[in-house]
Amino acid sequence: MEHEHADPVSARRRRRVLITGAGGQLGRALQEAFADDDLVPLTREEWDVSMPPGDVVRGDFDLVLHSAAWTDVDGAEADPQGAAAVNVGGTAHVASLARSLGAPLVAFSTDYVFDGRKGEPYRESDGPSPLSAYGRTKLHAEAAAGPDAWVVRTSWLFGPTGHNFVRTMLRLGAERDEVAVVDDQRGCPTYVGHLATAVRGLVDEDLPRGTWHLAAAGDCTWADFAEAIFEEAGLATRVRRVTTEELGRPAPRPAYGALRSERPGAPVLPHWRDGLRDCLEALEVPASGR
Ligand SMILES: NC(=O)c1ccc[n+]([C@@H]2O[C@H](COP(=O)([O-])OP(=O)(O)OC[C@H]3O[C@@H](n4cnc5c(N)ncnc54)[C@H](OP(=O)(O)O)[C@@H]3O)[C@@H](O)[C@H]2O)c1
Repeated sequence: MEHEHADPVSARRRRRVLITGAGGQLGRALQEAFADDDLVPLTREEWDVSMPPGDVVRGDFDLVLHSAAWTDVDGAEADPQGAAAVNVGGTAHVASLARSLGAPLVAFSTDYVFDGRKGEPYRESDGPSPLSAYGRTKLHAEAAAGPDAWVVRTSWLFGPTGHNFVRTMLRLGAERDEVAVVDDQRGCPTYVGHLATAVRGLVDEDLPRGTWHLAAAGDCTWADFAEAIFEEAGLATRVRRVTTEELGRPAPRPAYGALRSERPGAPVLPHWRDGLRDCLEALEVPASGR
């Protein structure tokens, strides 16, 4: 009988999945990780989430992945209300839509909800205390997502598209002999492809809702990360290690933001260095230096 050999994955019903912020680096990775579902990816042009959806979103959905956000951390210090309109108001609109559709919601948050003073990995049960306007909007956004959502806190995202540290370092590394990089902030640089796969695991296994810490294994400083990028890409660029104070950015950032999960069955992500290699491969950076 044909059915005896049916692959359980392909036999699964395709879900109808709404993705906000579909043009962002995580939004794109989610589209790849959920490629065997029916996707409705909406960019900012299609749905500005700071406004209610109106009639932009039609039909039934089985899942909502909310990756739209104001992610300009320094810009949020200058315009906290603008950041809140997108992060808090936007999440409230998305959560209300998901509730009305009866569809579970995945919302994304950040290690910047912590102040970094703990000095060892943050678990889900640790109390947040954001230092920046961006961190405060993301903490309020977690509440706006509601208790029935999966709230995924992650950190230092990078991928083959969009604005991120890896792409910036590759550009600077091609132009300069030396780059000044902060060496007193430690975190878990997380490859969006690995995060998207972990999110898929969370949803497919229907793990309990609530807050989940999903970030790459291992941790490092931005300067360590920059050195690894140059090394893996075969660039001779030197890293000059500087302090956060020397760089003088507008928004305060936690000195230590490593995230680990204390929840049973939490998906485990690969090491950040494996994420970096996968990202360089996706960017088709020649492996000669690796
Ligand atoms: N990036 C990180 O290091 C990091 C770390 C921890 C957590 N996170 C969280 O992870 C999630 C995904 O971040 P990401 O790195 O993928 O960010 P991203 O690349 O900046 O993508 C965010 C997307 O949201 C869109 N967007 C901005 N305002 C919008 C609005 N009003 N309505 C609809 N879309 C809007 C952006 O469009 P435009 O490009 O046109 O503005 C962009 O396409 C966010 O919740 C973020 O807070 C990010």
